[in-house]
Amino acid sequence: MVTAVAQRLASQRKEIDDTLAAFALSPTQLQEVKAKMRVELERGLKKDSHPTASVKMLPTYVYRTPDGTERGKYLALDLGGTNFRVLVVKIRTGMRNSVRMYNKIYAIPLEIMQGTGEEYNMFTIIILYKLRNNTRLPLGFTFSFPCNQTGIDKGDLVCWTKGFKATECEGYDVVDMLREAIKRRNEFDLDIVAIVNDTVGTMMTCAYEDPKCQIGLIAGTGSNVCYMEEMKNIEFVEGDEGQMCVNTEWGGFGANDNIEDIRTRYDREVDGGSLNPGKQRFEKMTSGMYLGEIVRRILIDLTKHGLLFRGRITERLKTKGIFETKFLSQIESDRLALLQVRSILQHLGLDSTCDDSIIVKEVCGAVSRRAAQLCGAGMAAVVDKIRENRGLDNLEITVGVDGTLYKLHPHFSTILKDTVRELAPNCKVDFILSEDGSGKGAALITAVAQHEQFAWIDKYLYAMRFSDETLRDIMARFRREMENGLGRDTNPTATVKMLPTFVRSIPDGSEKGDFIALDLGGSNFRILRVKVSHEKKQTVQMESQIYETPEDIIHGSGSRLFDHVAECLGDFMEKQKIKDKKLPIGFTFSFPCAHTKLDEAVLLTWTKRFKASGVEGMDVVKLLNKAIKKRGDYDADIMAVVNDTVGTMMTCGFDDQRCEVGIIIGTGTNACYMEELRHIDLVEGDEGRMCINTEWGAFGDDGTLEDIRTEFDREIDRGSPNPGKQLFEKMVSGMYMGELVRLILVKMAKEGLLFEGRITPELLTKGKIETKHVSAIEKSKEGLTKAEEILTRLGVEPSEDDCIAVQHVCAIVSFRSANLIAATLGAILTRLKDNKNTPRLRTTVGIDGSLYKMHPQYARRLHKTVRRLVPESDVRFLLSESGSGKGAAMVTAWASRLTEIMGAENSVLGIFILIGTYYFKL
Ligand code: G6P
Ligand code: G6P
Ligand code: BGC
Ligand code: BGC
Repeated sequence: MVTAVAQRLASQRKEIDDTLAAFALSPTQLQEVKAKMRVELERGLKKDSHPTASVKMLPTYVYRTPDGTERGKYLALDLGGTNFRVLVVKIRTGMRNSVRMYNKIYAIPLEIMQGTGEEYNMFTIIILYKLRNNTRLPLGFTFSFPCNQTGIDKGDLVCWTKGFKATECEGYDVVDMLREAIKRRNEFDLDIVAIVNDTVGTMMTCAYEDPKCQIGLIAGTGSNVCYMEEMKNIEFVEGDEGQMCVNTEWGGFGANDNIEDIRTRYDREVDGGSLNPGKQRFEKMTSGMYLGEIVRRILIDLTKHGLLFRGRITERLKTKGIFETKFLSQIESDRLALLQVRSILQHLGLDSTCDDSIIVKEVCGAVSRRAAQLCGAGMAAVVDKIRENRGLDNLEITVGVDGTLYKLHPHFSTILKDTVRELAPNCKVDFILSEDGSGKGAALITAVAQHEQFAWIDKYLYAMRFSDETLRDIMARFRREMENGLGRDTNPTATVKMLPTFVRSIPDGSEKGDFIALDLGGSNFRILRVKVSHEKKQTVQMESQIYETPEDIIHGSGSRLFDHVAECLGDFMEKQKIKDKKLPIGFTFSFPCAHTKLDEAVLLTWTKRFKASGVEGMDVVKLLNKAIKKRGDYDADIMAVVNDTVGTMMTCGFDDQRCEVGIIIGTGTNACYMEELRHIDLVEGDEGRMCINTEWGAFGDDGTLEDIRTEFDREIDRGSPNPGKQLFEKMVSGMYMGELVRLILVKMAKEGLLFEGRITPELLTKGKIETKHVSAIEKSKEGLTKAEEILTRLGVEPSEDDCIAVQHVCAIVSFRSANLIAATLGAILTRLKDNKNTPRLRTTVGIDGSLYKMHPQYARRLHKTVRRLVPESDVRFLLSESGSGKGAAMVTAWASRLTEIMGAENSVLGIFILIGTYYFKL
């Protein structure tokens, strides 16, 4: 008796196992799915195979993911998932994390989903009507079905999928239909700017938070993926430059019978009973709309064989659609006891025993596990393709995900991720959940697409937008340049000079005295008196005055320039009533100088606006001393010449001892940092560190950056006082940024894309747009008004669209600058990290310069990119509040202390001794 029962149970078990075995995919089978998907992705992209490909690879006309420059208020419709939603999306300041959304969900009656096209449109309009107060907003339409797009606002519905089947829609432009229906209502007008698949909306939503997000996945009612593809690979879309998002429509995978080996009888039954038999075969094995149905069919089968529900096939069990994804998710939850599973089944009208519950749970598990694995295999094909596109051995990428199945199911996401990891071992794939659906993404796309100019600008200025990969590449190039500059043999031909400064430590708090600091080379010539006292604690008192340096002096003879400096110094001392004293002077001289000691600085070359003759190759201390002596009305003792970067690092180092990098992003750009002496071939000694003035402005002077320079950069260079030199500086710094924008605007106007083609003499005048204008135009609140003011002054009568387009151009140019600086700074930081041989770098960067200080978004963008490029660092960015003069005084404090000890002649040696003591103190 016992044996008979055991035998029966065993045979029942076997039958169940046999049924479910068809759902268990072996690693080899999954590899095959990945390989086949990969073939279909390629076929979909190729011109000749595209028409017959099962994975359609539809172009979306979305050329880039958001970069934080988007702003405005938009309306978004979101149709095709579980919910139909209407949203108002407000992107406030163009800053990440500043999106506000209001949304309303509407039910979609079945007769509309599957009724006539006419009704479908009317339905949409009725809902829109309720939002008539907002109808003047530009609209982004998330439409979660395959559409053949020929532009961002044109999409012919290829075929309905999931639960939709409204007639007279397939083959027609959905945007047109919506527009016409609106017109027919004759009550309001709407500007439909973009039609967006939900995968694309999701990718954009997530990319807004994480720029590494270049893939969108929906695992919901339906199943689909989009990703950023290289334009040159999309054969049926014109153009080879840049990228475009491709909506794969992978749900159609299998239409050419190539996955029949893994489809089961149940899959075929589900397909046969669906609204679109033969189509969306992969979707029907993987998405929420069908998984429950597959389960139900298996249950019927098992019941027929007396293995479930006491062999009784009830009406309930025969009812299509009773098993929704949410029930599947509940049943599979590990937290539920069997009794609770049983009560869910009973709630569904299925009278079950506890044994039944176990079996049902197993069936659900097998079906959902297969779905997750299949999606994982498909995703592995996509990430591997992207990796190969980019010629990388390893790829790091983020997938933005949405959909009820992914969100609600207890195991789906884990199995999916595990499968991707196994099948694409060379890709590190992160998944982030879209918290706000794809409507936000649709609004972001609308923001970009709203103006015709934007598409043009994005495409046209493509060369000015860099991926993180390109930035990392630039970072690596700059690392090499730094090494060249430091090496004895490579230095003579190096473009990035890596000049020793003979400053060997940041302030240690012991400095004191009364100093004069000259500060020449930025936008202002300034003279300061800096008193550092040491009562209870170190305090600094500063008084300063700005002096004019007229153009004719900057461009005249060197002796005139230094006479002018000496004259201003005389005036300052007079006013300070110290003409009879011989205070030590620190000289911030913001140009590349070769030092052999602290108070000798041979100007290598003028940069920025300066071009006074007879100074290059000369020691500026001597020239200034000569000018002072010639006057004879006061005496001076120039003890130290420092670059502005060094002054800035020292100023900031006064407040934060961890500061070991100084950068300037102003009229010009440059950086210095503390390098290990043993790595500086040009200076004797191995112990301790010395500050190196990189002179990174010259990066690219040997052609290293030709691939990223644009025609505008070349034009700037041609018209500059120093052609062929400071090429990096000319791409990023304040002296050139306004001019870059002007050149772009001229070109756009010439092509009729701005100002109705009007070109005024003012617009054609060099220097008419300054970097401070770029900063004003990019202000979040009054930016557009500023743009209007500035452009009106140029006589071009801008429209509102013109102003928005100009704002966009400014953002691209300034963003490029911040990105490039992030790359070079990133190189310095990684070098510091390697020097210290630490897994994580904690450091402070002192910064100064008008561009960094005045531009409303620059600092934030720079910080963010640096943190992304050098994730293994904690960087504090410290703004130098008091210019670099204070820092120059700190260096001078040293030098003068040394002089007391050693006598003026030997200050260099003295510095080493002093630093030596400092080090031992530590
Ligand atoms: C997002 C989108 C919808 C999309 C849905 C997929 O929330 O906003 O448009 O279709 O995800 O999920 P579902 O599970 O609802 O199909
Ligand atoms: C600091 C220094 C200047 C330096 C300037 C750069 O304030 O004191 O010597 O050249 O920053 O900024 P700017 O934008 O004036 O070129
Ligand atoms: C549609 C896709 C959509 C997916 C997810 C599929 O049925 O064909 O366009 O992205 O469902 O909603
Ligand atoms: C100079 C640097 C200076 C930078 C910032 C560049 O043009 O070559 O020495 O630090 O401008 O002022």
